[in-house]
Amino acid sequence: MPARIIKGSEISDQIKQEIKVETQRLKQDCGITPGLVTILVGNNPASVSYVTAKQKTAHELGFYSVQENLPQDISEKGLIDLIDRYNLDQRIHGILVQLPLPKHIDEHKIINTISPDKDVDCFHPLNLGKLLIGGDDVVFKPCTPAGIQELMIRSDINISGAEVVVVGRSNIVGKPLAVMLMQKGKNANATVTVVHTATKDLSSHCKRADILIVAAGVPNLVKPDWVKPGACVIDVGVNRVGERISEKTGKPVPILKGDVDFDAVKDIAGAITPVPGGVGPMTITMLMKNTLLSALMHAKRNP
Ligand code: GUN
Repeated sequence: MPARIIKGSEISDQIKQEIKVETQRLKQDCGITPGLVTILVGNNPASVSYVTAKQKTAHELGFYSVQENLPQDISEKGLIDLIDRYNLDQRIHGILVQLPLPKHIDEHKIINTISPDKDVDCFHPLNLGKLLIGGDDVVFKPCTPAGIQELMIRSDINISGAEVVVVGRSNIVGKPLAVMLMQKGKNANATVTVVHTATKDLSSHCKRADILIVAAGVPNLVKPDWVKPGACVIDVGVNRVGERISEKTGKPVPILKGDVDFDAVKDIAGAITPVPGGVGPMTITMLMKNTLLSALMHAKRNP
């Protein structure tokens, strides 16, 4: 039987609706509008398209949103000064600096400059430390891992006790996701294995997984014989493999492929996310959720 398709776009629309309602309530009850600034350095096409989508969503949800476009050759100090300004700006509850940054700018230094209270990406070491420890101190969760967890919850995938294999150990996806899913607690409590480029016999690990999450950045890496029949397969890959002309606009648009050979794996898996329309839309939605959360915290601190 072909796998159930986990439609990230639909689930993401549902959550956005919830955020919209809560945003209206916050405006009415407390006079606070969630505020998000997205900072883009240079004009890398993928980064431009991500930031544009984030701004569009913030606007649709009724947020106060600001887009900062900085030249590729902005100095590190120039970027730090700008972030410091937004750290103090009461209208802004979330600061996002789109990565990657040009080589002359130290990414860690920039992430460390963002106030942990406005770190809606959850990239700051303080927030990642809280995530590692778990419990009530966790405020923000990193957007892509949080989106994956939410997709599974809303699709009735049983995480507790499951064998989870995460392919990829990035600071943005693999590492925090592994930490989140192995915590003792609700919607977690899994047995997690993280595999990576130095892992011997990658496919045998994947084949053990009840939940296989692939964030490797290699198009079509996962083949049907890597997947346990009935497993839940979450594809985080967004690989640009070419361009096509859009029928709607007549302009070139990227052709996207996931890390999973979707057409073949869907006949083996029990549930699977497509690319596009799976994890991708959830990442932006969770960014909005973190911004709303930050605004709610601000309202609590300043009643
Ligand atoms: N570059 C790729 N993904 C992300 C993300 O989630 N946040 C930021 N800030 N940059 C990225």
